[in-house]
Amino acid sequence: MYDFKLDATDKPTLYRDLASALEGLIAGEHDPIANMANAAALIFETVPGLNWAGFYRSIDGELVLGPFQGRAACIRIGFGQGVCGAAAATLQVQRVDDVHAFPGHIACDAASVSELVVPIVRDGALLAVLDLDSPQKARFTQEDEAGFKKLCECLSQSI
Ligand code: SME
Repeated sequence: MYDFKLDATDKPTLYRDLASALEGLIAGEHDPIANMANAAALIFETVPGLNWAGFYRSIDGELVLGPFQGRAACIRIGFGQGVCGAAAATLQVQRVDDVHAFPGHIACDAASVSELVVPIVRDGALLAVLDLDSPQKARFTQEDEAGFKKLCECLSQSI
């Protein structure tokens, strides 16, 4: 049984604890689906204010739904489509305070208001994107972005 008690009150500590919990979870395992599944579960359980946390994998030039926690979501997203597709096409983090103001946003859960999408790249190639949704406006700050970027760098070696 894994029982993570991450009770950090500040974000740098939360993301440091999250990174070390994730490292422990994926140590010695190289199956990408297993590692993404545990990462999604860990993030969803420990990061407050999320209604969706998961992965879209880069497969044959499009994004395909991977392991996640939250409501059932759209399965395939073209590069350049929506927030995830923008992250995939540009390889840049997309931090969106209000998805309703983002042209082409794909609404998988009507409750989602803000979104953070982090590309996961290894040796210059896109492996997947990490997608985080929140029902709160402007839920994700620069600190969240930095924390999740570090987490994705760690994951890029294990998926
Ligand atoms: N909103 C995303 C689609 C994925 S769901 O949020 C899970 C987007 O616009 O890319």
